[in-house]
Amino acid sequence: MYRIAVIPGDGTGPEQVREGMKVLTAVAEYEEFKFEAVTYDFGGDRFLRTGETLPDGALEELRKFSAIYLGAIGHPEVKPGILEKGILLRLRFELDQYINLRPVRLYPGVQTPLKDKGPEEIDFIVVRENTEGLYCGAGGFLKRGTKDEVAVQNSINTYKGVERCVRYAFEYCRRHGRKKVTLCGKTNVLTYAFDLWERVFHQVGDGYPEIQRDYAHVDAACMWMVKNPEWFDVIVTDNMFGDIITDLGAIIQGGMGIAAGGNINPEGVSMFEPIGGSAPKYTGQNVINPLAAICAAAMMLEQLGETKAAARVEHAVREVCAKHLKSLAAGRMGYSTSEVGDLVVRYL
Ligand code: IPM
Ligand code: MN
Repeated sequence: MYRIAVIPGDGTGPEQVREGMKVLTAVAEYEEFKFEAVTYDFGGDRFLRTGETLPDGALEELRKFSAIYLGAIGHPEVKPGILEKGILLRLRFELDQYINLRPVRLYPGVQTPLKDKGPEEIDFIVVRENTEGLYCGAGGFLKRGTKDEVAVQNSINTYKGVERCVRYAFEYCRRHGRKKVTLCGKTNVLTYAFDLWERVFHQVGDGYPEIQRDYAHVDAACMWMVKNPEWFDVIVTDNMFGDIITDLGAIIQGGMGIAAGGNINPEGVSMFEPIGGSAPKYTGQNVINPLAAICAAAMMLEQLGETKAAARVEHAVREVCAKHLKSLAAGRMGYSTSEVGDLVVRYL
């Protein structure tokens, strides 16, 4: 019996999560596993009502679940940073979800903005470090609001943090029969942080002699992702670069409508989410694409060890993309949010 904590969150998050739960419920029947879901109202509305992002005790409660399923965090009436740091990043950090795993896979029938590239060429996975780097909140101001102002934002890279991330990437590569791990960094300028990354990359890589190693500066990686996405297999990178390149990854796989990610603590509680955000302008219209949330649910099943269920969901998503959707964009799918959820259930 799995226990899933559900955080629908803001904007279109609840509509997306509703379809994901529909698919989970259906696949649980077919694959004969049981789960119990407990919903939490963390997000912008709760914050505006109570002034609280995560209430006392929330983290202790969440630690007891098998997994967390998240919709989206971000509210137009709340100043940027408060909910992101107070909820999303706090959960990632405190639950030590040190990997952010983001597949970039173009499904047959889905439009990519890349000319002459198809599902054969666009199929890689980004292993983004998820608890360190520029995201730590280390730094501060001096003389704020004056002409002498100084703002410092530090990137923290620990041996332990880098090692476990790089090792996860090589393990992932081996486990999934992939061939190459590319370190994405900036060794020509960030000569401390990426010196550490590069040394650890090769130290760890020595233990995986069958896996090819490659390196790309982050700026060049952005270019290659567009020009030759087939060069990439597994990419490992730091938190900030991973954030940036996975939005690029999302658009080449068809857009935010399908891009999913997992915040993974292999030894603890992991959290799965569509990576597209709350898309407030579409709230409540039943037009948002729920496939990203449904793919996030598939990743959750995989992490829980329900690999057959995960494969079933993925197969259904492929079928729906290939046979039904006109576009993956909100409002242009040719179906409503709930109809897309129903279609996925039909193909399970
Ligand atoms: C993401 C998002 C978050 C991030 C924001 C909302 C804090 O962009 O999950 O990629 O920067 O990690
Ligand atoms: Mn992002």
